Amino acid sequence: MPSQAEMFPIAVMASGRGSNLQAIIDEIEKENLSAQIKLVLSDKPDAGALKRAERYGIPAKVVERKHFPSREEFNSALADAIEASGVRLVCLAGFMRILSSDFISRFDGWVINIHPALLPSFPGLDAQKQALDYGVLVSGATVHFVDEGVDTGPIISQAVVNVEPHDTVETLSARILAKEHIIYPDAIRLISLGRITPGSGKRAQSASHF
Ligand code: GRF
Repeated sequence: MPSQAEMFPIAVMASGRGSNLQAIIDEIEKENLSAQIKLVLSDKPDAGALKRAERYGIPAKVVERKHFPSREEFNSALADAIEASGVRLVCLAGFMRILSSDFISRFDGWVINIHPALLPSFPGLDAQKQALDYGVLVSGATVHFVDEGVDTGPIISQAVVNVEPHDTVETLSARILAKEHIIYPDAIRLISLGRITPGSGKRAQSASHF
């Protein structure tokens, strides 16, 4: 097992249940991913992700929007917390707020996100419902670098799922989520190995998972 000094230090930001956080933890525990989660940061004190962090002894912090007069001050408090943790990569995993460009530039673009659709289709909220409503026959998940837009940054990796005739938002979401849990830790691994960097361009270049 690599020493802690060799482990790629990351932060995970999550507002909800934290199943992607759990997938990252699981891959670290299985030694498939040589990373260390130095901080789980949430804007919701009741986020399931915080309970998961506690269970594994991972430092966690809550920064709530309501405690800050402006979005800028909220974003800079989030960035301060992350900077203090000394990480090289910020992983958004169901963090339900749009981060400012100041936040992203403080980490030189080393911020990634997972989205439950094949971007650039269906960005924003309720991606699985958008896909069903449109009537697409395939959908999936995308890991991408975060820029100042909503789900617009360079794509790192994607996984595809079929949309079945009787799919509901729940069944499609579950099938996509299973793929998310594979491609997110894998993308972190590729970044930790230096195979992908934020400067890789619009097509960040990685793997597709079919
Ligand atoms: C996932 O579907 C992810 O793609 C989206 O938010 C959801 C987070 O789920 N950005 P979880 O909290 O990781 O279980």
